[in-house]
Amino acid sequence: MSLVINRVSKDYSKSVTALNAISFQVNSGEAVGIVGESGSGKSTLAKVLLGLESYKEGSITFNGKPIAPKKRSLLRDYRKSVQMIFQDSAGALNPKLPIWKSIMEPLDNFKEVTPSFLAGKNLSRKETAEVLLERVGLDKQFAERYPRELSGGQKQRVSIARALSIEPSLLICDEPTASLDVTVQVHILHLLKDLQKKMNMTILFISHDLRSVTFLCKKVIVLRNGSIVDQFELSELYHQDRHPYTKALIQAASIQ
Ligand SMILES: Nc1ncnc2c1ncn2[C@@H]1O[C@H](COP(=O)(O)OP(=O)(O)OP(=O)(O)O)[C@@H](O)[C@H]1O
Ligand SMILES: [Mg+2]
Repeated sequence: MSLVINRVSKDYSKSVTALNAISFQVNSGEAVGIVGESGSGKSTLAKVLLGLESYKEGSITFNGKPIAPKKRSLLRDYRKSVQMIFQDSAGALNPKLPIWKSIMEPLDNFKEVTPSFLAGKNLSRKETAEVLLERVGLDKQFAERYPRELSGGQKQRVSIARALSIEPSLLICDEPTASLDVTVQVHILHLLKDLQKKMNMTILFISHDLRSVTFLCKKVIVLRNGSIVDQFELSELYHQDRHPYTKALIQAASIQ
């Protein structure tokens, strides 16, 4: 798996440049973090990477093939390989569906996919959802519940279970813990880290919180006003060559 972003720019209008010649690469098995303050262009980047927003200049390739927002067939293939977890898990779940049906949406959309955990097993759709719930640390009794009957952290776990169902080669998370209280944030981060290790999953983790990013990711990219101002391996976090803005973030996060 490789995702290559090359000098991608995005304007919402003449006065708003949300992304300015962004370049970076994500390779198999890596956890790459993008950190930046509110308005720095993080969600715009996530949307552009998912083909939900167009971009003006530059190129994005996934496994060597360009991601063109207009080409539906290419996008379908890509969507199968790339799953997303959003900040607002409540909005991502259909309130009218029991949890197990929401979890099954990706597998229902991509019937041609048989994930490795289903190989050789003859499970009903609901049993499949229950297996996925267990993977994210939720009891199978949650399968029958509705989103309104779950806490924020439980809903975020459900979103993760759903995203993992088709074994994506890349998982993009945009502020997946921002709406949760601190202890639940820690649980979700541990869960993601655990899954990343166990499944050798590739994660692009987007957050305003440098602490979360450095907990989960080995590669860190710092975004400011739509530009990448710093990009480094976690082991170089405290290197003297860090950009002054990165140093300010380190100080603000009290992890110096
Ligand atoms: N649909 C839109 N139309 C016009 N401007 C937009 C639109 N979406 C975002 N912007 C602007 O683009 C810039 C980047 O927004 P974006 O949502 O990507 O930031 P962010 O880093 O995700 O912020 P946050 O941490 O608050 O979620 C901001 O200046 C924002 O006002
Ligand atoms: Mg955002």
